Amino acid sequence: MGDANQLGRVLDNLINNGLAYTEDGAPPRVRVSAATDSSLALVRVVDDGMGIAADMREAVFEPFRRGEHDNAPGSGLGLYISRELARAHGGTLSLERSEPGAGSTFVLTLPLRVTETTSRA
Ligand SMILES: Nc1ncnc2c1ncn2[C@@H]1O[C@H](COP(=O)(O)OP(=O)(O)OP(=O)(O)O)[C@@H](O)[C@H]1O
Ligand SMILES: [Mg+2]
Repeated sequence: MGDANQLGRVLDNLINNGLAYTEDGAPPRVRVSAATDSSLALVRVVDDGMGIAADMREAVFEPFRRGEHDNAPGSGLGLYISRELARAHGGTLSLERSEPGAGSTFVLTLPLRVTETTSRA
């Protein structure tokens, strides 16, 4: 029941970030996995890039907020929009794990069954 184009945009943002925010010179590795539990689909995007400092973990989801690096041009909107799209589907987008220099894991969750409340939102 999800909007395939919009969910594709979320994955596009996450994968592009994983490919862009690498340590200098290192070829990026990005792994995407999908799983379900009883009520949720979980999609993880794991990279081995530059990582995100602890005090930026929530800030990266704010509009126009970017890290301090020269890695890639950008507007700082990708994660903000992606989280809004996840929420519009009754889901969540969060930074599950990140360590400076040791990569990041973002996790998208989507409800397998859309409740009345969600579908009206
Ligand atoms: N996988 C990642 N590894 C390290 N830092 C990341 C990662 N993803 C996002 N960031 C940091 O979070 C910031 C915000 O990311 P976001 O995708 O919202 O915007 P952006 O990539 O800067 O621009 P765009 O709007 O083009 O996506 C980035 O500038 C970067 O500093
Ligand atoms: Mg981005």
